[in-house]
Amino acid sequence: MKENSSRNDQRSKLKRREFIKAGTAFAAGSAFMGLGTDSLFASVKSSLAVTSIETVTLNNGVKMPILGFGTLYLNDELGVQSVSDAISLGYRLIDTATIYGNEAAVGAGIKKSGIKREELFVTSKVWVDDSGYEKAKKAFQISLDKLQLDYLDLYLIHRPRGDVKGSWKAMEELYKEGRIKAIGISNFEDHQIDELLSYATVKPTVNQIETHAFFQQEKARKSLSKYGIQMEAWSPFAQGRNGMFTNEVLAAIGIKYNKTNAQVCLRWHYQRGIVAIPRSSKHDHRMENLNIFDFELNESEMQTITELDLNTTQFPEWE
Ligand SMILES: NC(=O)c1ccc[n+]([C@@H]2O[C@H](COP(=O)([O-])OP(=O)(O)OC[C@H]3O[C@@H](n4cnc5c(N)ncnc54)[C@H](OP(=O)(O)O)[C@@H]3O)[C@@H](O)[C@H]2O)c1
Repeated sequence: MKENSSRNDQRSKLKRREFIKAGTAFAAGSAFMGLGTDSLFASVKSSLAVTSIETVTLNNGVKMPILGFGTLYLNDELGVQSVSDAISLGYRLIDTATIYGNEAAVGAGIKKSGIKREELFVTSKVWVDDSGYEKAKKAFQISLDKLQLDYLDLYLIHRPRGDVKGSWKAMEELYKEGRIKAIGISNFEDHQIDELLSYATVKPTVNQIETHAFFQQEKARKSLSKYGIQMEAWSPFAQGRNGMFTNEVLAAIGIKYNKTNAQVCLRWHYQRGIVAIPRSSKHDHRMENLNIFDFELNESEMQTITELDLNTTQFPEWE
């Protein structure tokens, strides 16, 4: 009896997966109400005829896709294949960083995709060791060369350490020269933003911080909104830590819409107006993660997810 019901469970899980896969063919279809986002239509060369990923407008007028592709740990050939496949599926925002050691692979993946440069939104980040005016300028050029690009859409100070003031000055100059379309920060807390704002002549457009169901960063979300800085979620799944992909609360919500935990998570980020950059080494997951625009979490489901907040980092080793 027990065996039977677990076999049935398994079968229904498999069916749900198949259903979700099929639904992915209609990925990224419908528009979302009320975020003040715009639509970016992109032709793609895959089984999806057309996908559309909405954009948010940054405080300098630049448009940034609200859902993108993270590339941490996607190095070498895996990085090339993953990035090129992500682009062919419809991802337009690609997030890399000097410290990931994969800018060359990301650049090769972009080239391989055959996409026009202006259709993409590419982010990289200056690492702590390269902080300071001269070093940051050099690091930026090295990143561009590795990526085989002549401008970046977004360049971030990866962590608020080292000579932040010098790095920011270099980035402001590069921004004013048009070599970066938008500049921003990552892992900054309010007091560090205040300090930067005390000397900045260009306001940061984005703060990329750890954000997921177990560390929701509601305080940061409110204060970034006051600063007029777009919040971007890194590790939007907490890398699956703490059972994110098997969490029963998320699964119960997902069943209603035939969506996986990953899709419920991404939809939750989206409805909070936060840019998310999920990473996956697998084609099916990349496709699944795009398929979040054809359902909507209601208020009570959003509230239920709010209650999952542990209000603490899942990456203490990176602190
Ligand atoms: N600014 C910063 O300090 C900072 C720090 C960390 C990360 N980031 C950026 O944020 C991006 C995302 O964060 P992350 O890479 O740490 O982790 P993440 O996106 O939260 O999670 C990635 C993990 O989720 C799995 N996954 C993805 N889609 C899935 C699906 N549909 N079903 C089941 N499993 C799924 C992946 O496995 P598979 O490969 O098997 O799919 C991988 O193990 C990074 O890649 C990077 O670009 C920035």
